[in-house]
Amino acid sequence: MKDKKLSGRPKLSPICNEMKLDFPSHSRNEAFARAAAGAFIASLDPTASELSDIKCALSEAVTNCTVHAYPDKIGMIRLEIKLREDGTVMLTVKDKGVGIPDIAKAREPLFTTDAAGERSGMGFTVMEGFSDSVKIRSVPGKGTSVTLIRRLQGKSSS
Ligand SMILES: Nc1ncnc2c1ncn2[C@@H]1O[C@H](COP(=O)(O)OP(=O)(O)OP(=O)(O)O)[C@@H](O)[C@H]1O
Ligand SMILES: [Mg+2]
Repeated sequence: MKDKKLSGRPKLSPICNEMKLDFPSHSRNEAFARAAAGAFIASLDPTASELSDIKCALSEAVTNCTVHAYPDKIGMIRLEIKLREDGTVMLTVKDKGVGIPDIAKAREPLFTTDAAGERSGMGFTVMEGFSDSVKIRSVPGKGTSVTLIRRLQGKSSS
């Protein structure tokens, strides 16, 4: 017998804390976003290495907003963080910038649209290396949302 309630996605652990932060895409705010995320995630008692990984992935996502989403102006960036009881950290970085026309291409290592030769095209690869999963949604002309998910080790599953 099919039961819709029993099929589908596995049940997610409850959210135990969450925050939202809006800030302009000044490059100096990358350090601010890292510090704010670090302070917020500290309640889950991550290891130094886990915290460093998460901050590094977050930096790449925020820098992409500054450099690519708003190439000729300062726009707003939203950082959302959700912490789950099982130790999962979910960070979402959203912008309302130019968007990404081909997400699969953008994810490829060494792919960059930077014509000045200052970028290496490794940001998404770094995000993937430091996260369990990276989800990208983007609509050209409307903006981009990047979600980084990392499950901290040794946390209770209750
Ligand atoms: N938020 C965004 N808005 C618009 N385009 C983006 C955004 N994030 C990434 N992109 C596009 O995806 C490409 C790949 O991003 P990625 O971070 O992997 O490399 P990069 O930023 O070009 O170089 P690096 O991160 O190594 O300095 C970018 O060159 C850009 O075209
Ligand atoms: Mg980048």
